[in-house]
Amino acid sequence: MINTIIKGVGMYLPEKVLTNDDISEFVDTSHEWIFDRTGIRQRHIASKDQMTSDLAYMSALDAIQDANINATDIDLIILATSTPDQVFPSTAVKLQDMLNIRDGAAFDIHAVCSGFIYALSTADNFIKSGKYKRILVIGSEVYSRILNWKDRTTCVLFGDASGAFVLEGQNNDDIRSGIIDSLIRSDGQYRSKLYCDGGPSMQPRTDNFINMDGKEVYKHAVEKQTIIVEELLDSAGVKIESIDWFVPHQANLRILQTTAKKLKIKEEKIIVTVDKHANTSSASIPVAMTTAIKENKIKRGDMCLLEAFGAGFTWGAVLLRY
Ligand code: ACO
Repeated sequence: MINTIIKGVGMYLPEKVLTNDDISEFVDTSHEWIFDRTGIRQRHIASKDQMTSDLAYMSALDAIQDANINATDIDLIILATSTPDQVFPSTAVKLQDMLNIRDGAAFDIHAVCSGFIYALSTADNFIKSGKYKRILVIGSEVYSRILNWKDRTTCVLFGDASGAFVLEGQNNDDIRSGIIDSLIRSDGQYRSKLYCDGGPSMQPRTDNFINMDGKEVYKHAVEKQTIIVEELLDSAGVKIESIDWFVPHQANLRILQTTAKKLKIKEEKIIVTVDKHANTSSASIPVAMTTAIKENKIKRGDMCLLEAFGAGFTWGAVLLRY
């Protein structure tokens, strides 16, 4: 039996910090409005010359160092992003080159805010099948480039970041270590509730901005994340009381508190970073997890429940023992 172990974790946040007060200088909003409805205080913004691949490279180096391996030990890169450097080639192959990896494979996954969960689930299956031994899984985004900075209903919600895990296949009879189980889902009938304009086959345009029906997104995010977690725990035969840490996608404090309440997860078990980073889409879960590990909250052996919801709609959950 091959198990997927979390060998190392890493993250990168661009230097520049934009507070709610900073935003209120150029759009009609306030710190109070943003904080009361979302729990967000600030977000990090990439500099003009930083692309998604640059953020990914920094978080990859952090995770590789934490895993105590060489970059060339990695035989597969799966990079989740909805803000790739280019339409093609993938940002993953660019990262592969930046890391001087000359063999194996690299590809992008596009599932918006659920991207990291989709990537983690895919990587787990590749490792358990024996096809790959060490996989670098990344979530990396520069949403600041696809925000309409004149639209107060969306520009206050997002930030830029990258987070990475190094996964390793280990033969282990204890099937309770590493990734225990994962589930991913989507329902494309809701794709108009949250989308980015344009695209090469639909309508090439330069103002590729985010559009959102916030209330619908809120409702489905809580409902679908609650259901998938219950399904996952049921399939893994794990009780909610056994969860040490709940690491949800960091979209909005109210969404994650409401979901946790419905699942009967105690408030002190929720990892919250949305206040400092805002919603960093596919980067949010690995950044939240890495932050909690670096702060010595999540420790080796702890049972962690990761879950996400994003445009599509897409959603998913992963149960793992760190
Ligand atoms: N500052 C001040 N006022 C604002 C702002 C702002 N930044 N944004 C909207 N408003 C105004 C609106 O114009 C509206 O004014 P009106 O009543 O005069 O028309 C009023 O505030 C209320 O707007 P609503 O959209 O009804 O506000 P709501 O209470 O629904 O909160 C929010 C909006 C925070 C976006 C909420 O719907 C939400 O959390 N939705 C979830 C969406 C989400 O988290 N998306 C992230 C991406 S998806 C994902 O990652 C899962």
